[in-house]
Amino acid sequence: MDYSKFYTPPIIATALINELCISEPHKVIDICCGSCNLLLAAKKKWNKVLLYGVDLFQNSSVKNVTFEKNDGRKYAVDHSNEYELVLANPPFDSVNSKRQFPDLFVDEFKNITTSRLEIEMFIANLKLLQTGGVLLIIMPSSFVEAEKFRKIRAIIAEKYYIESIIKLDENTFGSSKINSYALIIHNELQQNRYTKTANVVDNRFYYKKRISSQRIRNGTWNNDTIYTSNIHLNIKRGNISSALFISRGQPVLHTSKYSNTWQPSIRYISKKANPTVWAEAGDIIVSRIGKSAGQWCIYNGEKTPISDCLYCIKSPDPLIVDKMKEKKYNKDLKGVATRYITISDFYSWLNSL
Ligand SMILES: C[S@@+](CC[C@H](N)C(=O)[O-])C[C@H]1O[C@@H](n2cnc3c(N)ncnc32)[C@H](O)[C@@H]1O
Repeated sequence: MDYSKFYTPPIIATALINELCISEPHKVIDICCGSCNLLLAAKKKWNKVLLYGVDLFQNSSVKNVTFEKNDGRKYAVDHSNEYELVLANPPFDSVNSKRQFPDLFVDEFKNITTSRLEIEMFIANLKLLQTGGVLLIIMPSSFVEAEKFRKIRAIIAEKYYIESIIKLDENTFGSSKINSYALIIHNELQQNRYTKTANVVDNRFYYKKRISSQRIRNGTWNNDTIYTSNIHLNIKRGNISSALFISRGQPVLHTSKYSNTWQPSIRYISKKANPTVWAEAGDIIVSRIGKSAGQWCIYNGEKTPISDCLYCIKSPDPLIVDKMKEKKYNKDLKGVATRYITISDFYSWLNSL
């Protein structure tokens, strides 16, 4: 798949721009501007801001954008320290050689080697920043999580303050399921200030634990217990929506009211429906939504499909079952009108037991 051309959806661009707590900038740039969605979101927030866009492959005639067709890395070297706000969703791609654009790898970046284009673009974007300037950049999850990029993260954290690390929904770029983060970075160290972390689910921000400046400087930028835990679970969400329910047919397990000893209810769907997730005896079933969100039980019935209001943990490790026994999900539920939990919420709860 070509990961180089996934444009930021306007709704996410707007949500991210709204996370920036800065005074109105005079000018803003995106050196891989493509659709210009990030720039346009900035214009929505700050009416008077001047927009500058660069792209090597796309021509842009978007209103209000001063456009230049150029390699973003070259533009950044020629315009270093010029911008107070820089926006970026660079192409996620490899470059042919480890030093394809050597002009970037000077000063604080001299010890960085990489064959990733998004990392070259990251450096280019940092170069554009004035002292005190802010970069909002979308990067693949590997940049934040992978051990192989720890050294690069640590080098960046030596000189820049990482204000926020925001995990984006895997559906942000449509069905392509690209895992990515948005980072908010200041070109000014702010000693001992924590880094905020958040997850975006259905375009809403959920703030999580902060990360200490020490850990950030050490290159540990990932705060998600899913990836650090030794628990591994095969947890799946059903695909049958309640719109498919009929009065008779093949049984399907569905959520039910909150109760002390929670059990799923049984509904029916046509034989032609196409369920993809089945619960079998010994699996754990979790209610995902509604007042009973987070309630769970060990299933002991026949192999039966589950509705999309349930998660099913397939063949759970007996040690985990032991840990969970007689415990109730006791974390806050998300949502206002309809309460729900995500797979990651359930994981975090298990990790806290
Ligand atoms: C992932 S898209 C993002 C576009 C836009 N920033 C957004 O968020 O919607 C990356 C863009 O970078 C452009 N691009 C790829 N290589 C480039 C380079 N070396 N210099 C400048 N732009 C480049 C592509 O043409 C594409 O439009």
